[in-house]
Amino acid sequence: MAEFTPPRSFATGNLHDTPRGSQRPTSPASTMRKECSAAAVSEKAAIALISRLAVQMTLQSGYRMPALGFGTYSNSDSPSVMGDAVYAAVKVGYRHFDCAESYKNEAAIGSSLERCFREGLVERSELFITSKVWQTNHDPENVYAACKNTLSNLNLTHVDCYLIHWPLAWEHTNLECEPLIPTDGSTGCVTMSTSGCSIQDTWRAMERLVDDGLANSIGVSNFSSSQLADLVSYARITPSINQIECHPMLPQHNLRKMCKINNIKVVSYAPLGRPGNLHEGDPMLLQHPVVVRIAEEKGLTSGQVLLQWQMDKGLAAIPKSTNFEHMTENLSLDKLGKWIDSNDINALDTLETCHRFCNKKWNYGCLVFDD
Ligand SMILES: NC(=O)c1ccc[n+]([C@@H]2O[C@H](COP(=O)([O-])OP(=O)(O)OC[C@H]3O[C@@H](n4cnc5c(N)ncnc54)[C@H](OP(=O)(O)O)[C@@H]3O)[C@@H](O)[C@H]2O)c1
Repeated sequence: MAEFTPPRSFATGNLHDTPRGSQRPTSPASTMRKECSAAAVSEKAAIALISRLAVQMTLQSGYRMPALGFGTYSNSDSPSVMGDAVYAAVKVGYRHFDCAESYKNEAAIGSSLERCFREGLVERSELFITSKVWQTNHDPENVYAACKNTLSNLNLTHVDCYLIHWPLAWEHTNLECEPLIPTDGSTGCVTMSTSGCSIQDTWRAMERLVDDGLANSIGVSNFSSSQLADLVSYARITPSINQIECHPMLPQHNLRKMCKINNIKVVSYAPLGRPGNLHEGDPMLLQHPVVVRIAEEKGLTSGQVLLQWQMDKGLAAIPKSTNFEHMTENLSLDKLGKWIDSNDINALDTLETCHRFCNKKWNYGCLVFDD
């Protein structure tokens, strides 16, 4: 269950270009009070507003994670553009960043984080940084080396969470994951690992990362209910997170229930329906008439409507943006106290079509999802 504690990021006037410590810290209440009085809302509403903006989740591991994070995967933005976006995102107020070795931009993100620390914008302890091991690095020794490599690229001594990116072991290539997808030249299919490494072996290596202080929390991504059930049966450290595609078109009812029962937090990827990376037949979720109608009625943007749906369901979400206006509007998703109501949620729930935007075909000779 999501808990409400104003994070420091909202206590420092974070929407402005002001280095921390250069002015007297402003309390979250007074910051919000200013905005709220401008919007002529009551003190009571202002407190509710602070709570929603500041939602944090306590993980199985005991660590806390801001529910609204920042995605860093892009098929079109260069590493340096994503690095600059992370720097801007820290300034705007994001404190949770979703990275992965396979995104091939962790070094640029690491430089930006280092700059943020140097300029006093934020302290390491205020950030929640996730990374993920790619499926070519599932062998235990490679999990360890991949995590060390990520830490070196990100300029960090530990990640806040480390995930198994996909429940598949592919042939090991090299630590830089080159090529990203090892392919059999004759069949064109992805080459599965023949090392005999199981998910259990990989999970044992993940647990060692926690033991050795390289990761505060560990988790998985793209795991189904049955894969989670299997993992939970032998895990010494239960996963804190399952990061999955989730939005009104793919609400993942059963998997979310399974995660809730096991106190595994769901982090939703593609929360906006990946508008910059659509394939043939993909709908534009942001332009769905129901989303647009609610946005118009409530004075929100379509992105804010979709992200409020995530918060209403008690999910964490990690929208990606390299556009300053987008990243700002996504973070300040109810800045003026505008919140969708239960009728809107019901209307959004009717969008369910089980449509996957991400890797729905996978196309390399192995299907991940059975639907
Ligand atoms: N675990 C996994 O297997 C997995 C898979 C996929 C993604 N992820 C993670 O989840 C993150 C988010 O998923 P995603 O990037 O695929 O999809 P997404 O966040 O749903 O969509 C990103 C796209 O939305 C645009 N956008 C952002 N805010 C917007 C707004 N307010 N209005 C209009 N357009 C907006 C962005 O363009 P601009 O940059 O121009 O704003 C970008 O093209 C990734 O970056 C990655 O960190 C994980």
